[in-house]
Order: sequence, then structure tokens, then C-alpha cells
Amino acid sequence: MNNDMLLEVSGLVKYFPAGGDWFAQMFDRRRIKAVDGIDFIIYKGSTLGLVGESGSGKTTTGKVIARLIEPTAGQVRYADDDLAKIKRGQLKRMRRRIQMIFQDPSTSLNRRKTAGQIVSEPLLIHKLARRKELEARLVKVMDLTAIPTRCPAASARGSASPAPWL
Ligand SMILES: Nc1ncnc2c1ncn2[C@@H]1O[C@H](COP(=O)(O)OP(=O)(O)OP(=O)(O)O)[C@@H](O)[C@H]1O
Ligand SMILES: [Mg+2]
Repeated sequence: MNNDMLLEVSGLVKYFPAGGDWFAQMFDRRRIKAVDGIDFIIYKGSTLGLVGESGSGKTTTGKVIARLIEPTAGQVRYADDDLAKIKRGQLKRMRRRIQMIFQDPSTSLNRRKTAGQIVSEPLLIHKLARRKELEARLVKVMDLTAIPTRCPAASARGSASPAPWL
């Protein structure tokens, strides 16, 4: 891995069990080959678009890179770390830098929470703000978006359909 590289994926494989509960899986060794040996490099300052038909493994690739699921085989190197091998503490630090932005906000945002609560959560989890200063930080960030902090997440999603209670 040289200095211009940010992320290097090599020989990445992810198989899922073909279905059923653990008992059914003992007898049925078939696997869904979601990702079957892919290699790519993302260089610093560049953008990579992964394009393919539905079910070709794009989301699975993203989930393995973010360590939301474990790979069956292969390596994911970020800067100088092998992401498949880093420990819990390091993983939390890594998650400040590698994140998923899910396609469908109506299923990825918790409709019971306000937009402010959702934006606060990572600041607290990653200890980027203390509770005392949270509100000031939040107001600053939310000002950039013009979404009121008390707005229910369901209506902050910017889609055509409004929240059911509005
Ligand atoms: N948790 C899982 N258990 C079993 N099979 C899975 C699981 N997640 C994904 N798959 C299967 O792996 C394959 C790849 O799915 P994936 O969601 O990565 O595709 P995709 O390229 O993101 O598709 P789309 O364009 O529809 O979002 C599909 O056959 C899918 O059904
Ligand atoms: Mg997908």
C-alpha cells in the first residue's frame, strides 16, 4: 500500500448461508455468493462508483468495508490498518472516518426520534461533544441545514410524502 492509497480491497469474498435456521443450514451447505473475489483501490482525493445490477453485491461490499459484517475471505486495508483485524477500540475510531449513507432515509432514520436527537447520537458515542456543549454544537450544525432540531426525523427526510401526523 503506497502513500496515495486510501483504501485497498483485495480478494474480497462474502458468502451467506442459503437460508433457513441454523438447523436447516447444517444440512444445506449451499451458499449465496454475494461477493466472490473483488479487488479495487481508492486513491486519496478520488471517488469510486460501484455500479451493477440489483443483487450483484454492492451493499454487501460496503457493509464489509465498514465492518458491519465480517468477510468470508479477503483483505480491506485502510491507510495502514487491516480492517478485518483491528480491535474494538480501533474500530470505534475508524467509524468516525468510514460510514454508510443509506439509500432510503425513510427506513434508515428512526421515526420516533427528532432530527436533533439523531444528529446528537454520534457526537456522544464518539465523545466529540460533552452533554453541556451539545446543544450549542447542535444548533450550529442544524443551522447549516435549516431543519429545526425538534423536527421529527420522519418529516426531515426530504421526500415527497410528509410525516403521517403532519
Ligand atoms: N444478510 C444476508 N443474508 C443472505 N443473503 C444476503 C444477505 N445480504 C445480502 N444477501 C444476498 O447477497 C446478494 C447481494 O446483495 P446486495 O444487497 O449486496 O446487492 P446490491 O448490489 O446492493 O443490490 P441492490 O442494487 O438491489 O441494492 C443478493 O443475492 C442478496 O439477496
Ligand atoms: Mg444495495
